[in-house]
Amino acid sequence: MNIGVFDSGLGGLTVVKTMLEYLSGANIYYVADTANAPYGEKPKEQILDFSIKITDYLISQHNIDALVVACNTATSAAINDLREKYPNLIIVGTEPGLRPAISHSHTKEVGVLATPATLNGEKYITLRDELSNEFNTYIHEQACHGLVQQIELGELESNKTMDMLEIWLKPMRDAGVDTIVLGCTHYPLISDSIKKIMGQNISLVETSKPILKRLMQLLSEKNISSSGENRLSLFTTGKIEPSMIEKIFDKKITIEKIVL
Ligand code: DGL
Repeated sequence: MNIGVFDSGLGGLTVVKTMLEYLSGANIYYVADTANAPYGEKPKEQILDFSIKITDYLISQHNIDALVVACNTATSAAINDLREKYPNLIIVGTEPGLRPAISHSHTKEVGVLATPATLNGEKYITLRDELSNEFNTYIHEQACHGLVQQIELGELESNKTMDMLEIWLKPMRDAGVDTIVLGCTHYPLISDSIKKIMGQNISLVETSKPILKRLMQLLSEKNISSSGENRLSLFTTGKIEPSMIEKIFDKKITIEKIVL
């Protein structure tokens, strides 16, 4: 069972971590496209182009059965085209967990942290409008310019990161937001910093478990199964902070540089 996963950088590893916990016998091939990160401030066409190059690489070099787009931004920009271009490939995307957040919120004040590209996505906007009306919930959106770069540098709690978060989160705290959607796969890596500002009772909604559930469902529909140890291979198109990989997996894992 060969599974390709990609993101602009480290973020998708938060999804891989969950995959490793629940899958067995999977060969996971992960591409961190750091040469082109961050995706969230780039035009849709460019993100689509990156996504196609990575998918072609994963198919031709690693013969993948399934692709997990472990990036909200790339999902929003490219998933429809990817599904059209690779009709035989299982493709699972990542979308901000608006529905679970809205049903969980007691104050009916929900925050969404995401990249500008994700917040401008058509599908996201339609769902947001529908759900906020239906459940009478106020959505506080924040496009987090520069946050992915801070996380890539390993600056999870630096003064600069905390200052950025304080500016974005203060209005949410003042409005009584009790649930925040982490609409970018990088953001679970700064959950502790968000809690420091919002208080320990804040609920943070991330999406790695729903992604895994969907992947397992699609694999079983196609009768693709395996057993034994999982194997993880990491690839990057540019620079990456090795200490962050070690922090995520609690061990050193080598990462190979590739050119797409
Ligand atoms: N992890 C990506 C996401 O989920 C980050 C996008 C970026 O590189 O800006 O949106």
